[in-house]
Amino acid sequence: MTTEITEDDIASLVPAFYARVRQDDLLGPIFDGAIENWPHHLEKLKAFWSSVMLTSGRYKGQPMTAHVRHEQHMTRENFARWLTIWKQTSNELLEAEKAASFQERADRIAESLQLGVQFYRNK
Ligand code: HEM
Repeated sequence: MTTEITEDDIASLVPAFYARVRQDDLLGPIFDGAIENWPHHLEKLKAFWSSVMLTSGRYKGQPMTAHVRHEQHMTRENFARWLTIWKQTSNELLEAEKAASFQERADRIAESLQLGVQFYRNK
């Protein structure tokens, strides 16, 4: 039987991930410099992951625009760190199968964000 991902999974993963990001030497200062309202950011990111994993349509936004705005921080190294923390957090909080699907989706989204930012740079 495949285990269904739930809103509860997202509600535990997202805040735990950003708590670690904020502690991270590389990513912490970037996020703390950019985000003024953390509760609002966490709600938005829960809605984002709910839309991605549960096709709930809860998120209305433009991730590409948001990242192009912070173009100088969108480096290969930062993406690698982001994905490492995502992987660690999901492995610790969720069962293996669920963690793997969150990781696959994050890999694909990170890839497309990187391509999008590169496209913007070369314009
Ligand atoms: C928003 C940084 C990777 C999903 C943001 C914001 C920052 C940021 C600073 C706030 C933007 C603003 O409001 O001005 C980064 C960095 C990354 C990274 C430094 C890696 C180098 C990712 C990845 C995903 C993601 C891999 C998804 C898998 C989002 C979403 C938002 C966001 C959904 C909200 C966009 C909106 O305002 O609607 N990110 N991010 N980010 N990020 Fe990232």
